Amino acid sequence: MTQRKPAILVARAIFPNVLDRLRAHLNVSSNQDDVPWTPEALCAALQGKAGILTTGAERVDRALLAACPELRIAANMAVGYNNFDLEAMTERGVVATNTPDVLTETTADFGFALMMATARRMPESEHYLRAGHWKRWRYDMFAGAEVHGSTLGILGMGRIGQGIARRGALGFGMKVIYHNRSRLDAATEAACGATYVSKAELLQQADHLVLVLPYSAQNHHAIGAPELAQMKPTATLTNIARGGIVDDAALAVALRERRIAAAGLDVFEGEPQINPELLTVPNVVLTPHIASATLPTRQAMADLAADNLIAYLTMGRAITPLNSPVGA
Ligand code: DGY
Repeated sequence: MTQRKPAILVARAIFPNVLDRLRAHLNVSSNQDDVPWTPEALCAALQGKAGILTTGAERVDRALLAACPELRIAANMAVGYNNFDLEAMTERGVVATNTPDVLTETTADFGFALMMATARRMPESEHYLRAGHWKRWRYDMFAGAEVHGSTLGILGMGRIGQGIARRGALGFGMKVIYHNRSRLDAATEAACGATYVSKAELLQQADHLVLVLPYSAQNHHAIGAPELAQMKPTATLTNIARGGIVDDAALAVALRERRIAAAGLDVFEGEPQINPELLTVPNVVLTPHIASATLPTRQAMADLAADNLIAYLTMGRAITPLNSPVGA
């Protein structure tokens, strides 16, 4: 007798080759048309499914778990997992997975690039050129902030933060300082060329502050008006972490009043909605949450999310679990 394949839902459009691979092992329903689902529509589509592949935007919370009792695993195609209520998932015996490691270097590349584009005012000067305003050279035209030899501050020193630190220290001769929940061991600090400082020292000393910390309720508005007020007026702020870590309204005010020089933002509170004030200040570089977006990296992320579903639902063992619910 052939065994029925476990049923799963792929919540957003995904690489067709990943769907094909999933279909070899699982009974797959997918949202390949990428229809924007409300939480109610997601819940309806998830009925009777043992697994879900999420992309970081779909919330797996108590309400969804209660309404979908057959769910056994949610595999996020992202390293961040603030869309998961991990406590509720663990209580309900649902395994959560994410996609660590495969996106580290690509995301660090982007964080560094966004910091540089912000410091050297690249998009602002490009808009000026495209608008036909460039008539002649001027000694101070789009003069930005120095990157090489300056002080790079990193808030959140996980794998991606360490990748950014290495780029700054080894590639650009920057002095690298960091603050993190826990201090790195001496060997890791030496490999990154990074020195541990308090959060206040980080804010006060950084010429370029890059945020790479995971979102949690405790980190909500970790950078708000009081923190922005401690930064140098010449400093830049780059956020590739998560919306909600920065108070976007306070940041827009700080940028408009030039209390800091500029910001580079890849993530936003309530994205894809953007605080309208941020759209009207010139000294901010805005990108649509693309730090991990190269095709090889997105493929690797999708592959790992799919492998987690296949491994757990066919062999009972996830590859990169975030929790270990009793009995799961
Ligand atoms: C992540 O993996 O958490 C990134 O933000 C990708 O979307």
